[in-house]
Amino acid sequence: MRVAVLNGPNLNLLGVREPDLYGQHTLGDIEAMVRQEGALLEVEVEWLQTNHEGALVDAVQVLRGRVDGAVINPAAFGHTSLALRDAFLAVQVPFVEVHLTNIFGREPERRHTVLADLAVAVIAGLGARGYPVALRALVDRLRAG
Ligand code: DQA
Repeated sequence: MRVAVLNGPNLNLLGVREPDLYGQHTLGDIEAMVRQEGALLEVEVEWLQTNHEGALVDAVQVLRGRVDGAVINPAAFGHTSLALRDAFLAVQVPFVEVHLTNIFGREPERRHTVLADLAVAVIAGLGARGYPVALRALVDRLRAG
């Protein structure tokens, strides 16, 4: 089984970016956690971070047929990008949406995501731990058929 983990804008700055909100872990730390969980689950993990909406759309478009599912932290694009939503609608690849923070308890403009209703699940507020939790939940779901 193969799963893509996609990360949107500014997540490359984790560790230095508003650490009181987003935590001390760097994205590299999170990638290591996810790869470790992937190894335990015997799943191949692909990893991408981009600050560019089009690059994220491109990455979603090529999921189909190549991976069994995806985990995505779309970051701010999750609140705004209909292009990203359309890409997921097009490829029909199951995915779990992750946010480090509990976006539902934050500013009103962050409480809605354009992906949530398409997702297998949304995990928000668990910090870095949300990523391996999302991977495990997705794989459990995929294996259950
Ligand atoms: C985030 C929440 C978004 O609102 C924000 O724009 C981010 C990070 C999170 O992981 O909590 O960049 O997706």
